Amino acid sequence: MRIGIPRESRPGETLVAATAKTAAQLAALGYDVVVEAGAGVAADQPDTAYADAGVAVGTGADVWGSDVVVKVNAPTDDEIARLRTGATVIALLAPARSPELVERLAAAGVTGLAMDAVPRISRAQSMDVLSSMANVAGYRAVIEAAHEFGRLFTGQVTAAGKVPPARVFVVGAGVAGLAAIGAAGSLGAIVRAFDVRPEVAEQVESMGAQFVTVDMEQEVSSDGYAKEMTAEQEAATAAMYDEEARAADIVITTALIPGRPAPQLITAETVAAMAPGTVVVDMAAANGGNVAATVKDERVVTANGVTVLGYTDLAGRLAAQTSQLYGTNIVNLLKLLTPEKDGRLTLDMDDVIQRGITVTRDGATMWPPPPVQVSAAPAQATAVLPVEQAPPKEVDPRRRMYAAGLAAVVFLALATLAPASFLPSLTVFVLAVVIGFYVIGNVHHALHTPLMSVTNAISGIIVVGAVLQAPVDNLAVQIIAAVAILLASINVFGGFLVTRRMLNMFQKG
Ligand SMILES: NC(=O)c1ccc[n+]([C@@H]2O[C@H](COP(=O)([O-])OP(=O)(O)OC[C@H]3O[C@@H](n4cnc5c(N)ncnc54)[C@H](O)[C@@H]3O)[C@@H](O)[C@H]2O)c1
Repeated sequence: MRIGIPRESRPGETLVAATAKTAAQLAALGYDVVVEAGAGVAADQPDTAYADAGVAVGTGADVWGSDVVVKVNAPTDDEIARLRTGATVIALLAPARSPELVERLAAAGVTGLAMDAVPRISRAQSMDVLSSMANVAGYRAVIEAAHEFGRLFTGQVTAAGKVPPARVFVVGAGVAGLAAIGAAGSLGAIVRAFDVRPEVAEQVESMGAQFVTVDMEQEVSSDGYAKEMTAEQEAATAAMYDEEARAADIVITTALIPGRPAPQLITAETVAAMAPGTVVVDMAAANGGNVAATVKDERVVTANGVTVLGYTDLAGRLAAQTSQLYGTNIVNLLKLLTPEKDGRLTLDMDDVIQRGITVTRDGATMWPPPPVQVSAAPAQATAVLPVEQAPPKEVDPRRRMYAAGLAAVVFLALATLAPASFLPSLTVFVLAVVIGFYVIGNVHHALHTPLMSVTNAISGIIVVGAVLQAPVDNLAVQIIAAVAILLASINVFGGFLVTRRMLNMFQKG
């Protein structure tokens, strides 16, 4: 079968559905691949890059006459008319929002596979273009904000004065929000974030940001997506949004609820009260926006000097990266659809991923697919039957007394029989054993290795003793002193080397 990669017709589109690398990977699955001349130019993929990768570069007619057409945006009416009956088109079809497109594809006898309908299950993660794009967009939102912001993100102490770190507030900690938290944190900003799903608090904190809490009922999501807020939740969060947004230098909003317009969370009054120079990036602009002042695809500067960015092409602003990720998602999907790697696309309607993305097939409308239970929430704790725990081992106190008595007898016997000069050394030894037992016994197990490697340095005393013995006019003593110095030195320096290696493990970079 032949796969065609067309040049995107949407004005201003920078993305391409296959880079030279991913086009070659498609060819390795047994397909003939043809890319329309100029398709990848805006994504740093000139025709020569495809040709160098062994992929054919052809005309629009070559591409649209293919068995499978893979693109980014949904095909226009003119493009559908160019598809062969029985062909397959793979793109972002947004079938839920475009029922007329679904009808037109069905009428044309085309099989439509929607990349934006990949079910959100673990097995499908490698094909999830929405996550790939949200990840890049979240990163780019921070870069756009940094570009607009008139100051540094990172705090510094310079000869010319102290620079405070930028304060970034991220609303919504899904894929885009977490990417924004990561990017802002790595630039040195202090990041705070809020999400209606309380289960993401751990993810936010693991990225070094602070999760903002609100005193209200928050339900753990059963399917990984947020639900519309109740009136009580709205009232409880309104003051928090106002307070956090006013205190921030940068606000990045990503809050979305599937199938609903974006919730409006930052009011016009809050924007009017923000400090001049504050930057807001509203990543929900395509769905109506989370911020009152947002205008889709526009950069707005309010009367009080707040810049509000409503760009909806954030992923496309990193075209080379997004095209590479989109192309890899496509390759992963085609690996699933080409189990024999023989260049023949097959569709298995019993597979939830393949059924989930199939919008039309052989003239029939297949949308919507049966629901798939997705869950990003932690699994419900299963009931664990109580297991009787073994009681901690009790040491019989009589055995302790016998041991102490025996030790005392041995000590007295040695004290009586041994020369008088031996007694002080023996006393120090016994006290050292007792103190060592209690000190080391109370050190946490995880710290035993560093403790041991440092206490090795105690054998430095052996080096001192051996050095004192070395001048003695006796060859045997000198040999023993030399061996003692060697062994004790290995112990001392080896201990410090091990400690150094362990400390390096905790150092960043
Ligand atoms: N294949 C997979 O398993 C897969 C793929 C992608 C995402 N996921 C999961 O799905 C979940 C949703 O991810 P997403 O990025 O697509 O979400 P999304 O784009 O639908 O929403 C963005 C975030 O906004 C939050 N939000 C909604 N209303 C809000 C409000 N009023 N205030 C604050 N925050 C609000 C949501 O909880 C979500 O975290 C995540 O847990 C993600 O890990 C799973």
